[in-house]
Amino acid sequence: MVKLSIRRLGRALLATGATAALAVGMLTATAATSQAATQGPCDIYAAGGTPCVAAHSTTRALYGTYNGPLYQVRRASDSATRDIGLLSAGGYANAAAQDDFCAGTNCVITVLYDQSGKGNHLTQAPAGGAAGGPDNLANAFEAPVTVAGHKAYGVYVAPGTGYRNNHTNGIATGDQPEGMYAIFDGTHFNGGCCFDYGNAETNSLDTGNGHMEALYFGNNKSWGSGSGNGPWVMADLENGLFSGVNRGFNAGDPSVSNRFLTAMLKGGPNQWALRGGDARSGGLSTFYNGVRPNATGYNPMHKEGAIILGIGGDNSKGAQGTFYEGVMTSGYPSDATENAVQANITAAGYNSGSTGTGTLTPGSRISLRATTAPCCTSHYLRHNDADTKVVISAANDSSPAIDKADATWIVRTGLADTSCVSFESANSPGQFLRHYNYQLYLNTDNGASAFAQDATFCPTAGNSGTGTSFRSVNFSTKYLRHYNYTAYIASNGGSNPWDSTNSWAADTSWLVTVPLG
Ligand code: AHR
Repeated sequence: MVKLSIRRLGRALLATGATAALAVGMLTATAATSQAATQGPCDIYAAGGTPCVAAHSTTRALYGTYNGPLYQVRRASDSATRDIGLLSAGGYANAAAQDDFCAGTNCVITVLYDQSGKGNHLTQAPAGGAAGGPDNLANAFEAPVTVAGHKAYGVYVAPGTGYRNNHTNGIATGDQPEGMYAIFDGTHFNGGCCFDYGNAETNSLDTGNGHMEALYFGNNKSWGSGSGNGPWVMADLENGLFSGVNRGFNAGDPSVSNRFLTAMLKGGPNQWALRGGDARSGGLSTFYNGVRPNATGYNPMHKEGAIILGIGGDNSKGAQGTFYEGVMTSGYPSDATENAVQANITAAGYNSGSTGTGTLTPGSRISLRATTAPCCTSHYLRHNDADTKVVISAANDSSPAIDKADATWIVRTGLADTSCVSFESANSPGQFLRHYNYQLYLNTDNGASAFAQDATFCPTAGNSGTGTSFRSVNFSTKYLRHYNYTAYIASNGGSNPWDSTNSWAADTSWLVTVPLG
């Protein structure tokens, strides 16, 4: 069986022009280091006899010849929509098209197009048994990345966000075999139910055990868990997140938190497997491979064939996570096929476009993007040229160089507290972001301890649940905030106008991004 599928896979690889060496490398799951985009994951699944029947990505083509739209965005200013396609057939997302279309306003992702030709697009999820709807749509800018050096955006699922298709074509039903993979941000998760991608109920209700077969990622322990403290890749099979054969704990399912995480699930009659790995290098590990769970209702399965992203089968929508690409197949993919897909993924070259809190390390160059919608999600924190004030204003990669440089900061060890940070201007060396009478200015470090205190901010989880907030080290209830497009330190309610509780959480939450300048 395995030999046959390997031979078929090898023939197809050679037929698509891949070198014999490459084919051998892929079949042995060795990560390719530099691979031309001659084929996508779905070409590999097809060659293995398990074709994609759904293929979603906001970052790249999943077939070597795909040249259609990847996703659609809608902007807040006039509700116009725009399809975002590729830079070239089989290539990478045209993120600049999104930047141009959404400049000066805010955009959400309205459609994730299915590249498989089956029409299994994902759109705004409707209400379900567990929660009303329609669900929120993802902010189109909150998950910036690069793929092979090309800027792209992932799907940032904040709690309340969800996509679904209840009228699909070709997705497994009943006990039919299927496979799926997704690339997630392994650092963005929570314990809510349920950040899923995969097969679910067609009526958005919990219709019983075995009616789902979806990838789950997060640290929810209500139904099951693996080793360590999570997060875990698990299988959402309905009324249960499964990490192995047992309901509950299975030691074989490790905690995984790679910045880019490949998660794989496949299931057929009385067999299923969970696999995963680093989407940037190396092969896959098998977390579970065996019979269906030893709990009632999961053998045979009762899959219904809807597709969900970011939510549970009954539209439970308390979870968060980030999705970059994923597919579902018809048929149970061989391990060799999945290994070849993983080699394709690692060769794709995913990289962090947003530095996140992890890159708030001394020496990093970053920009800070506002998160308040709809006014300000294209706005960055910058210093003025005409005076020393610090403000927010709209900017993107195409902005004048001076604007981009004014919005670029070098992270320094906190001047007053080494566990916090200070921000030095990238184009005015020696000048730091500091507050004075609670307003933000760019001033030269005069070495005084008062200046050090005023210029030191302690990163915390975003007050709105998104991004990062920056607490003033010497006014511990006050956080870096924009208010009427000017920057202050502000508490959530207080005597200054900028202490207004309106939008305080969003105004004090920032995305740490790659530097504009
Ligand atoms: O199986 C876990 C969750 O249980 C499902 O996603 C949801 O439909 C139900 O609440």
